[in-house]
Amino acid sequence: MTDCLGLSDHVSVVTGGAGLIGSSISRGLADCGATVVIADPSDAGSELADQLGDHVHHIDTDVTDPNAVELLFETTVKEFGRIDSLVNAAYPRNDQYGAKFEDVTFEGWNENVSLHLGSYFYTSKCAALKMQSQPEGGSIVNFGSIYGIEAPDFTVYDGTSMTSPVEYSAIKAGVINLTRYLASYLGSDGVRANTISPGGVFDDQNEQFVRQYEDQTPMGRMAMPEDIVGPVLFLVSDLSTFVTGQDIAVDGGWTIS
Ligand SMILES: NC(=O)c1ccc[n+]([C@@H]2O[C@H](COP(=O)([O-])OP(=O)(O)OC[C@H]3O[C@@H](n4cnc5c(N)ncnc54)[C@H](O)[C@@H]3O)[C@@H](O)[C@H]2O)c1
Repeated sequence: MTDCLGLSDHVSVVTGGAGLIGSSISRGLADCGATVVIADPSDAGSELADQLGDHVHHIDTDVTDPNAVELLFETTVKEFGRIDSLVNAAYPRNDQYGAKFEDVTFEGWNENVSLHLGSYFYTSKCAALKMQSQPEGGSIVNFGSIYGIEAPDFTVYDGTSMTSPVEYSAIKAGVINLTRYLASYLGSDGVRANTISPGGVFDDQNEQFVRQYEDQTPMGRMAMPEDIVGPVLFLVSDLSTFVTGQDIAVDGGWTIS
């Protein structure tokens, strides 16, 4: 364990902390000595907490349930004394999510927007209320996406059954501007809020898709989960004490071309 960034007294809640990106973030925070609460309903959450050591804890949480969210932050402050950062890396969606544009229903759209954008709002709100009452404030990091910044490039899905869901573009653009709102509203209380917008993360996707995606990316590859960790550590730590309301694209240059 290395206190590389002054995080040894830091308490962080990571929603979706057992996922593809979230598990790397939980590990990165734990490596820097932070107390980490993995807020994730999957069994992988408790397995990861066991693996990462005594200062990593799993709280089985469905972030789309407001009562569970309130309990998450009550428990965190009760057990660990404070909350310095919230990292929202959960990816809640219903079973219709991922349908092509023509097949998305009004109800399906509403539910997915509510599950994802709604839970990012409510976790941010509940964390902010705790952080406002601490002299040191706190830091909120929400996960956006390159598709919250610009329109999808559908040519990368040519020849595959994959698509970029229409809800995703609305949700992620919403997350980026929700985060700006939080930064503006909470800035005077010392609570910072920023977005990280990753490009596509490699997860053994269809080979044709990967090739086509890489061809569109200045750095010539998809992101690896580990690429996302450094910017998160920067945003939760005192390296970024005057950075708020920003969206950092971690995309190998995708959004500049
Ligand atoms: N993977 C990518 O290519 C990519 C690219 C850009 C942005 N993102 C964003 O990064 C974030 C993480 O994505 P990921 O790829 O790691 O997703 P993932 O599906 O691998 O992991 C998501 C995690 O969220 C958890 N989760 C799902 N529903 C939940 C709920 N109701 N309550 C609490 N936790 C819940 C899951 O158990 C899982 O551990 C998301 O916001 C996603 O939109 C991902």
